[in-house]
Amino acid sequence: MPSTPDTDGEELQAILSTMSDVVITADYHGTVMRVNPAIEKLFGYLPATLIGQNISVLMPEAYASAHDGYMARYLQSGVARIIGTGRELVARHRDGHLFPIHIAVSKLEQYPLFVAVIRDMSELVKLEKEALLISEIERNRISRELHDELGQNLLGLTMQLQVITKQLAGNDNQLQLQLQNLSRGLAQNVSNIRAIISELATVELEEQGLQSALNTFVKLCNNYNKAKVTLTCEGQKPAEDYTVSINLYRIAREAIYNALKHADASQIEVSLKEQDTRIELIIKDNGKGLPPELNVRDGRLINTGHGLRNIHFRAHVIGAQLTISSSAATGTRIECLYNRPGVKPSLIRENI
Ligand SMILES: Nc1ncnc2c1ncn2[C@@H]1O[C@H](COP(=O)(O)OP(=O)(O)OP(=O)(O)O)[C@@H](O)[C@H]1O
Ligand SMILES: [Mg+2]
Repeated sequence: MPSTPDTDGEELQAILSTMSDVVITADYHGTVMRVNPAIEKLFGYLPATLIGQNISVLMPEAYASAHDGYMARYLQSGVARIIGTGRELVARHRDGHLFPIHIAVSKLEQYPLFVAVIRDMSELVKLEKEALLISEIERNRISRELHDELGQNLLGLTMQLQVITKQLAGNDNQLQLQLQNLSRGLAQNVSNIRAIISELATVELEEQGLQSALNTFVKLCNNYNKAKVTLTCEGQKPAEDYTVSINLYRIAREAIYNALKHADASQIEVSLKEQDTRIELIIKDNGKGLPPELNVRDGRLINTGHGLRNIHFRAHVIGAQLTISSSAATGTRIECLYNRPGVKPSLIRENI
């Protein structure tokens, strides 16, 4: 028979030592007071080597340097965005590599301590990435089928109708008129199918890269809409990972569509900067701004449609930093910063 723990403290220690989540307590200066053994598997530190260090060693550098400031502000103002809520962030392993985590922080009222529970999200994010990639492959397949089967068949029918209409010329006016209408209807459907095909497919993105695909999309938008859409590109460094470019592309499209649909803007500016260390994508309109009923809760936008939710999700999956800012005076600005692996940290945040 296993022995039962004789004190509450022992029982708690036993529970903590079997947990796969990391549980850390830190004082108000961020000094680690206690940590359970799960820290070694997740972050590569032995508990004893972490105790006494500042908790910021577990954070990407850019965030770590700002962390002392957050703590000081929290202690002064009592307001902290992360306390009492869960948040998805990027953490730093002892060997320096960055990985996605979920962190929930609470404050112990009876002691001057914070408790953080940290869960590894690497597998989930990997699965999300794979699911998105599979869905893109499937979209491309449907697009090809539509193009090669339906699109070409409809085009063939349109041409046959045109020939018959010509042959009937001068014979039966009524029938000729009906055929002309039919042929116009078919032509319209062919062009609708074409639009659906190009909406689904990302062949250009795969073959020519992000700038080229965005350029084609922006041109298309300028053909149909009253707002002027401009695209400025700097640098041209292919994303090392197709998932990155496809997600940035879809983020840009949704943001542009939103600006066209909702903003009443006269100008939509898209900017793409591809550098060695990062890719910066900004979509900015001079419209009326996001409606006030869109709020931030737990660091996330709520009351959104699918579009803004997907933008968040896509940025999260590639580990990009998303900043959405908006006002009635200046319009809406969506910035997505993707740091190339091993270079800089990324966090998800919004300011509205
Ligand atoms: N650039 C913008 N300017 C003004 N309002 C915007 C802008 N982008 C989004 N919105 C507002 O935010 C709401 C949510 O946008 P979201 O893209 O999530 O959904 P949607 O565009 O309404 O529908 P869909 O799910 O088809 O994208 C919109 O209904 C609109 O009111
Ligand atoms: Mg939308």
